[in-house]
Amino acid sequence: MQFFEIVGGTRLKGTVDISGAKNAALPIMAASILVDGESILHNLPDLADVGQMQTLLARLGVKSERDASGAMHLRVEDEMNAHAEYELVSKMRASVCVMGPLLAKRRRAQVSMPGGCAIGDRPIDLHILGLQSFGADFELVNGDVLLRAKKLKGNEVFLGGPFGSSVTATANVMMAATLAEGRTVIASAACEPEVVDLANYLNACGARVAGAGTPEITVEGVESLHGAEHRIIPDRIEAGTFMIAAAITNGDLELHGARMEHMRALVDRLRRVGVVIERGEKGIAVSSSRRLEPVVITTQPFPGFPTDLQAQAMALLCLADGNSVITEKIYPDRFLHVGELNRMGAQLRKEGPTVIIEGVKRLVGAPVMASDLRASAALILAGLVAKGTTRVHRTYHIDRGYESIETKLAAVGANIRRMNETSP
Ligand code: EPU
Repeated sequence: MQFFEIVGGTRLKGTVDISGAKNAALPIMAASILVDGESILHNLPDLADVGQMQTLLARLGVKSERDASGAMHLRVEDEMNAHAEYELVSKMRASVCVMGPLLAKRRRAQVSMPGGCAIGDRPIDLHILGLQSFGADFELVNGDVLLRAKKLKGNEVFLGGPFGSSVTATANVMMAATLAEGRTVIASAACEPEVVDLANYLNACGARVAGAGTPEITVEGVESLHGAEHRIIPDRIEAGTFMIAAAITNGDLELHGARMEHMRALVDRLRRVGVVIERGEKGIAVSSSRRLEPVVITTQPFPGFPTDLQAQAMALLCLADGNSVITEKIYPDRFLHVGELNRMGAQLRKEGPTVIIEGVKRLVGAPVMASDLRASAALILAGLVAKGTTRVHRTYHIDRGYESIETKLAAVGANIRRMNETSP
């Protein structure tokens, strides 16, 4: 097992290249199941989750390999298997994104129910409801969702749930609809940029998807999809994490590739905190002066403040001059970082889905345990500014979703090293 050792107190300065978006890459890779011929994906991040999706796709008969430029070539070679097994799905929830493509192309999808995870309950009822609307039969078999249909018929489907829409359910229904007979209307669709990126890829393959990025998506089914070349959008969550890294270290970073239109809620909150954010020539420039103002943050579906930046924002607000409040409206239990930040001297009090953050003058280094991807990022951010040494254990969480985070941070001045648990 590995951990990150961070000696806090350095100011970050320089340029960071933002990688391709994990949450755009994974459903787009899954969409290759729908396609006849080869697709080429550029700007795919080099992440554990991308490797995991390649393994799952390989089991499902999709060959994928990177060329010398890093672009990934994907092609279906065998359509026999339509079963995503527990062993693979339990390692990565995004595996559920193969459900819509398998049902649409192979008329059968058997996908293990993912179950809960560190950030709370994560039901898939909206995925199933959406896919049943095409006329598919649904059964639960040994913990697997089994969907079957002789043909898929387009329909109207409402994907609103108790916490808003669902990003990957929208992706699943949109993907299945591309090969369904007739028109599908997805009401209360997720508006996240990753959904738009998926729609752009599908359209490049010959699909007829309109309205992605709005709450109503219309898909006119086509007979087949052909291969296409596509460039994955930059990762707004990675970019947001580096923005907060600049803010928390009183630093000055230029984030190449970051897109302001994907990050307005974060930019709005950070400006209120006192962080200076400007459009740069190649992305976004972020700098900070020392005094941080407290703010109120509520996570919401896009274009609201993303749940995937809640933990990182909390690390920053630990050092604000006053009390801040963060309410989590997407995953009310996504707070495993609270106890760890408190070990570093933060003053956080959780009350239901809300955390009250009493700003402190400084954080102190400590050994801490990462519990999930974004909580790990928050602990690294806290470590960058804490007095002394912080060890963030369980690096595998961060490797799922941040490409070479320690290399990128070290290149702009952070004192961070990846170590093996056995290292002296
Ligand atoms: N929900 C339901 N029923 C469903 C599906 C979702 O009630 O069938 C609820 C969820 O419990 C949650 C809300 O709807 O309260 C939104 O969940 P959503 O389905 O949108 O999440 P997801 O599609 O499973 C994606 C990202 C997550 C990100 C969420 C929210 C991918 C691969 N994952 O998950 O990313 O937190 O959207 O924006 O796109 C991460 O990258 O760290 C991560 C967890």
